[in-house]
Amino acid sequence: MTADIDGIALAAEGLCKRFGGNTAVDRVSIAFAKGRLHSILGPNGAGKTTLFNLLTRDLLLDSGTIRLGTTDISRLTPDRVARMGVARSYQISSVYPDMSVRENVWIAAYRARGGNPFAFWRQATSFPEAGQWADTCLSRLGLSEIADVSVKELSYGDQRLLELSVTLACAPQIILLDEPTAGLSRKEAERVKRVIMSLKGEFSIIMIEHNVGIVMDLSDSITVMNRGVVVAQGSPDEIRGNRDVQEAYFGS
Ligand SMILES: Nc1ncnc2c1ncn2[C@@H]1O[C@H](COP(=O)(O)OP(=O)(O)OP(=O)(O)O)[C@@H](O)[C@H]1O
Ligand SMILES: [Mg+2]
Repeated sequence: MTADIDGIALAAEGLCKRFGGNTAVDRVSIAFAKGRLHSILGPNGAGKTTLFNLLTRDLLLDSGTIRLGTTDISRLTPDRVARMGVARSYQISSVYPDMSVRENVWIAAYRARGGNPFAFWRQATSFPEAGQWADTCLSRLGLSEIADVSVKELSYGDQRLLELSVTLACAPQIILLDEPTAGLSRKEAERVKRVIMSLKGEFSIIMIEHNVGIVMDLSDSITVMNRGVVVAQGSPDEIRGNRDVQEAYFGS
């Protein structure tokens, strides 16, 4: 990779992952610049979520290397990688439905400060700053007014924003978003888009998203995958004009 190492938040070289005879990620090399928003586009089954699972170490690599800054994280546990500042929101909502909005964010803030996840009810008072940080995260996502509402009573759009707030509460350097606007109405998707825009620059963001309009509006750079391989990489303008992309992604 020829890129300036100082400007790279996360980089992968030659990543491979097979499921039986199916190569979900096939020799993918990719670099994510610090403070930039990099999107991954591609049709269903292209290998995007599998790539995320490899980057966060939720899945074991068959081969390849991953570097976080200058540190080789290819063999670290997902927990360790998370504590090094890589936070992820899932394609399918991953919040505690019986707890309030604030409690969900507080747990993430508390864990990010080294609290024991199995004893948070006993140690709550020893981490007052977790509460302050949780409120900051809620306010940044416009969720303060519904902080005491139980998660199971939230609209789907508010649940997705809560998920983003939980991700932010992990105090990350790098945020991975897997389809942040999936299943949302146009209005809700616009709200999520504005929030992501407000996080841009402050964090390195890697986003999988099927909404091409949002990808084009938010991204500094885009990688297009199809059938496990990288089909194209470039700026939004370069991707828009790329014929291989039109064939692979738009099927024309
Ligand atoms: N745990 C798994 N076990 C077996 N096969 C899997 C597993 N996870 C993913 N796959 C397969 O790997 C391929 C890539 O899947 P992946 O979920 O990464 O695609 P994707 O690009 O995220 O698609 P989508 O846009 O639908 O979310 C698919 O063929 C999928 O069936
Ligand atoms: Mg996916």
